[in-house]
This record gives sequence, structure tokens and C-alpha cells, in this order.
Amino acid sequence: MSNEKDVSRRAVLCGLAVLTLGLVPDTAIAATGVKVLANGKVEVTLSGNPALKKVGGVVQFTDGAGQSVALVRTGKSANAYRALNLSCTHEGTNVQKSGSKWVCPNHRAEFAINGDVKVGPARANLVQIPVKVSATKVVVG
Ligand code: FES
Repeated sequence: MSNEKDVSRRAVLCGLAVLTLGLVPDTAIAATGVKVLANGKVEVTLSGNPALKKVGGVVQFTDGAGQSVALVRTGKSANAYRALNLSCTHEGTNVQKSGSKWVCPNHRAEFAINGDVKVGPARANLVQIPVKVSATKVVVG
């Protein structure tokens, strides 16, 4: 009986520790309306991704090379988007969204949602991928 009680207490404490440390990544919002073009660039339709309507909104997708990419709305202007390679600039582990930042599960580097490094050991911002924005879509690559 006391073993069950200890396990239960331990499970609760571990759960609290995980939540307190922010170790539970957000569920990534997978982009819809994503098309890999013949030239290898990726087209993301804006109408299919309402998360991008608000500043700080993010959708994620895998590009034609298998790389995890985030498209982030960085401002109110119509062309304020940034595409980020989600490979950590420390040793390459894919970072995960945690609230309004990216956290590397490997050595806990943190990046702002726009990819700027905030906490080491990473020293460089997440790598930006060029974007071309039109009224209906963003082409990444
Ligand atoms: S690989 Fe990301 S912090 Fe080390």
C-alpha cells in the first residue's frame, strides 16, 4: 500500500517538475496547403493557415529535403514573415516550440519565436530561410 502511495507522490512531483521547467513542448501546428515546388521551394497558402493571422503565429512543415521549418508571423505588416530552420545552432537537434519560444531538448538552448538566440549553449540565431510573400501565399526557400 505504501509503495502505491510513494509511486503516486513521485509521479505527481515528476509531473510538476516537468511542467515547471517547461519541458512539455507545445503541439506543433502543422501547416496545411503546403506544396513543394519543382525548384525545391515550399509554397504555404495563407488562407489555409489561420495561425499566421496574428503576430507570433507559427506553423511548421517539413521541406523537400526533410528539414523541419517554421514559418512565423513576425509583425503586422503584410510581408512580416520569417522562415526558420528548426535545427539548433549548437549541435543540430530540432528545437521545439514551448509557449512563445523555441527550446532545444538536447542542452536546453532557448530562442525567441523569431529565432533569436536567448539562452546558450547555442550562440547563433536559428538560421533564416528566405521568404517571398504575396497576398495569398508565402514561398519559402
Ligand atoms: S543541440 Fe541544441 S543546445 Fe545543444
